[in-house]
Amino acid sequence: MRTLIKNGLVVTASDELNADVLIDGETVAAIAATGSAVADGWTADTVLDATGLYVIPGGVDAHTHMELPFGGTAASDTFETGSRAAAWGGTTTIVDFAVQSVGKSLREGLDTWHAKAEGNCAIDYAFHMILADVTEDSLKEMDVLVGEGVTSFKLFMAYPGVFYSDDGKILRAMQRGAENGGLIMMHAENGIAIDVLVEQALAQGKTDPRYHGEVRKALLESEATYRAIQLARVAGAPLYVVHVSAAEAVAELTRARDMGLNVFGETCPQYLFCSTDDLARPDFEGAKYVCSTPLRPAEHQESLWRALRGDDLSVISTDHCPFCFVGQKELGRGDFSKIPNGMPGVENRMDLLHQAVVDGHISRRRWIELACATPARMFGLYPKKGTIAPGADADIVLYDPRGAYTMSAATHHMNVDYSAYEGRTVAGHSRTVLSRGRVIIDDGKYLGHAGDGRFTPRSTCQYLT
Ligand code: URP
Ligand code: ZN
Ligand code: ZN
Ligand code: ZN
Repeated sequence: MRTLIKNGLVVTASDELNADVLIDGETVAAIAATGSAVADGWTADTVLDATGLYVIPGGVDAHTHMELPFGGTAASDTFETGSRAAAWGGTTTIVDFAVQSVGKSLREGLDTWHAKAEGNCAIDYAFHMILADVTEDSLKEMDVLVGEGVTSFKLFMAYPGVFYSDDGKILRAMQRGAENGGLIMMHAENGIAIDVLVEQALAQGKTDPRYHGEVRKALLESEATYRAIQLARVAGAPLYVVHVSAAEAVAELTRARDMGLNVFGETCPQYLFCSTDDLARPDFEGAKYVCSTPLRPAEHQESLWRALRGDDLSVISTDHCPFCFVGQKELGRGDFSKIPNGMPGVENRMDLLHQAVVDGHISRRRWIELACATPARMFGLYPKKGTIAPGADADIVLYDPRGAYTMSAATHHMNVDYSAYEGRTVAGHSRTVLSRGRVIIDDGKYLGHAGDGRFTPRSTCQYLT
């Protein structure tokens, strides 16, 4: 089965060219300039006309939490609903976080996540592993997981009593990662100090969602970021800091990177497009914007954009972790600390970042680099994922840069009863989405199937110097 995409503007992290793309089976066979003798000689079973469209690699979202148990409830998207929503939004690979439970093995956690995902995904998927219980046994298991293509491990300096690891455990995991090639991903917030501030705020009757943002202080993000960097230096390990939101934390990343360290940063659309103003919405609506690290005052956004234009922040993932307002976010009425942490967004990322191109924050190629190529390289999926090149998986989006629409819970495909971007108009959307050569979204129709997406083992980080 050969598919030909004709007359589009092919945009990758490195190039933009008017070119035709020939797909043979599941992979890209060749690319040639539109109108060239080579391209005009191609025949195919299916021809997709991309006149006026961008032809881009499918998005790689390296941070999702389908069905994550949290605070007595669980994230509302299953792998089926969440991966389908990702496809609608032009994302063709997700890397989700399998979770180790305290007292249990990594194997048990990973098997549980395989069982949740297998046969249910619309698009290809991979796993990171959350290390919630760093023991001699789990350190040994890290080596095994790296061999199975689960090559990155998230640790938490936040959430004491749940996911939290102390500095000694963090150092041990980093040392092990330095040996086996596993990349340590850090949730960098000083959770011990935050818990003191939570208790004090609640004792003073400060129970509204906005206090979630006040107690999770920017300084406690930057302090943890600094500490994580120093621990990684001591261990001789690279470090990837997830969901960076504070300008002060960006400054720590900049300093580390200026020293030439293998320290990488990720941010998420909610930190670029939402702020503490949203957390302060009346009638408990602020709960829709409760996530950790928290949204910051809008002044922080310019330093995030600056770091994204340079490379001090090099990946934009969603941290998609949806909880319905009714029945889930509402668990925290009268006590902000009981609001499940997380925001929906797996469907919105590519369009919000395209809007950032239109608004002049980043270039078109940088959009693709931040959303496709760098996450693929960071987590060992490149060049199979994250680019359009001969031999790469034909995960391709025909993107309409003039297909404006208004984001809304009434029309989105995520299984959550609100949109964080309700009423926001964006300039473009994904018109046609291919996953390994098959058209799964076409002009407003879903043509994929649960189970088409495959588990994709990953190599180790492809950025280390
Ligand atoms: O609030 C968030 N980010 N929830 C998901 C879990 C995490 O820390 O990434
Ligand atoms: Zn986190
Ligand atoms: Zn997360
Ligand atoms: Zn199918």
